[in-house]
Amino acid sequence: MAYYGGQPVVILKEDTERTRGRDARKSNMLAAQIISEVLKTTLGPRGMDKMLIDSLGDITITNDGATVLDEIDVQHPAAKMMIEVAKTQDKEVGDGTTTAVLLAGELLKKAGDLLEENIHPSIIISGYQKAAEKALETLDKVSSDVDLEDREILMKLSNTSMRSKAVSSVRDHFSGIVIDAVRQVVEKRDGTVIADVDNVQIVKKEGQSLEETQLVKGIIIDKEVVHAGMPKKVTDAKIALLDTPLEVKKTEFDAEIRIRSPDSIKAFLDQESEMLKKKVEEVVASGANVLFCQKGIDDMAQHFLAKAGVLSARRVKKSDMEKLAKATGGKVVNNLADLHESDLGSCGVVEEKKVGNDRMIFVEECKDPKAVAIFVRAGLERMIDEAERALNDALYVVSDVTETPKMVAGGGSVEMEMSKAVREYAAQVGGREQLAIEAFADALEIIPRTLAENAGLDILDTMVAMKAAHAKKKGVYMGVNVYDEGVVDMMDEGVLEPTVVKEQAIKSGIEVASMILRIDDVVAAKSGGPEPGAGGPPGGMDEDMDI
Ligand SMILES: Nc1ncnc2c1ncn2[C@@H]1O[C@H](COP(=O)(O)OP(=O)(O)OP(=O)(O)O)[C@@H](O)[C@H]1O
Ligand SMILES: [Mg+2]
Repeated sequence: MAYYGGQPVVILKEDTERTRGRDARKSNMLAAQIISEVLKTTLGPRGMDKMLIDSLGDITITNDGATVLDEIDVQHPAAKMMIEVAKTQDKEVGDGTTTAVLLAGELLKKAGDLLEENIHPSIIISGYQKAAEKALETLDKVSSDVDLEDREILMKLSNTSMRSKAVSSVRDHFSGIVIDAVRQVVEKRDGTVIADVDNVQIVKKEGQSLEETQLVKGIIIDKEVVHAGMPKKVTDAKIALLDTPLEVKKTEFDAEIRIRSPDSIKAFLDQESEMLKKKVEEVVASGANVLFCQKGIDDMAQHFLAKAGVLSARRVKKSDMEKLAKATGGKVVNNLADLHESDLGSCGVVEEKKVGNDRMIFVEECKDPKAVAIFVRAGLERMIDEAERALNDALYVVSDVTETPKMVAGGGSVEMEMSKAVREYAAQVGGREQLAIEAFADALEIIPRTLAENAGLDILDTMVAMKAAHAKKKGVYMGVNVYDEGVVDMMDEGVLEPTVVKEQAIKSGIEVASMILRIDDVVAAKSGGPEPGAGGPPGGMDEDMDI
């Protein structure tokens, strides 16, 4: 509380919680570290999975950092910031979420030690920033170019991202699908290569095994053909994509129509049916033999469409409509009068297939589709979900290198190389900042150390071997041998990762660490119920009115 002339000056409300200085920093840092501790055991191919149970009792089993953090419910604001790091990493590059969070946690832990030695947070932050620049510079130096024509390299990159996931046994099969999918959807816009993973639709259905998972050169719509009289299969399909209902417009107000004779009932119905018939005729006139409608299709319209032999589906999701347009080269039209032959998409075959107990419509054999589908199958529902997450990571990894064709060796090798360069740089800087830069170099070692720990290796021995290997010029690619012991050349092992994944992990790690370090005051308003006097009938009004 502040005082002025001996009188207390109340600025904050009485029940506001406030922690300041050292306490605020400590509590924030602790919360952030707890989050990274949670993820720690999931890192790497020998990492463990987490079983998450939500409030409804639904179970998720996963190794994916972003998913773990997404499912757990945290209260502390600093812990929430750490979760943001994982989300950013996931959104930007799709992989490396655990790495980013571990790095941020370790940077904060080391910062805690420095604070104990009375080093000011702003010196730590500026030291960290300089160190991060050096680390990124080194990352660039040890990166090599990716030849996108070299399928084997792409397989290795994709496989590395899937090594830690439960679906690792089928990674070769999955990687093949992922590479074909990304190659298919890649586009050039204003000279830049864009590989948007959103154009790869992932459709899941329980089946026999993961090996059944396949790439569909087109899109899968989780709907049935709307009318029994329609064809279930159309070859050489001409596809109309409509974002307007094939229904008679309902009036917006209630209207009563009094019909006095059977004749007028007929006339009335005939008129409705005539309108629908006209609409269907417009579809047919465009040359379409398949119709996907984002809105409803009236029973009567279905009947006319069936008569005309048009395979139709209604209430197709907007996102699927957009993908259909990309896959078939068609255009989503929202006014029937504007539907022309040139708006139609095309593909080899549209077919309703029975999958398990459901029916789905497969739009296949598209010519050069700019959106494709991966049809994921597995015996267990939870396995399908984890397969989807693994595919998502791999899709991102392949799209990352397609857009920025640079890669590094994994297994903790690149972190060791960055750590070494940052430590050498620290000596040149000197002063108190030197300590912060050295702390950054130490923090980078959390990756190889955790890989060793999760593999059940002796951490000390492994780290000594790693340091010795990286002291030599030829040791640049030496990483943790998680399947045996000691160190191996990760380039030879084919453990490769996109440079952008590591770059983003450092950027987001340092960003959140500095942000948390900069906070020295936490002011939290209590969120109790409504304030006394507030809510309910306006205070005392009732009694006043009685008088
Ligand atoms: N065969 C391998 N040997 C050694 N290290 C490996 C091997 N395969 C992958 N790794 C390493 O495992 C780490 C990646 O682990 P993991 O995929 O669990 O975490 P992440 O990518 O940081 O986060 P997430 O995948 O959850 O988003 C990387 O450092 C990678 O180099
Ligand atoms: Mg990963």
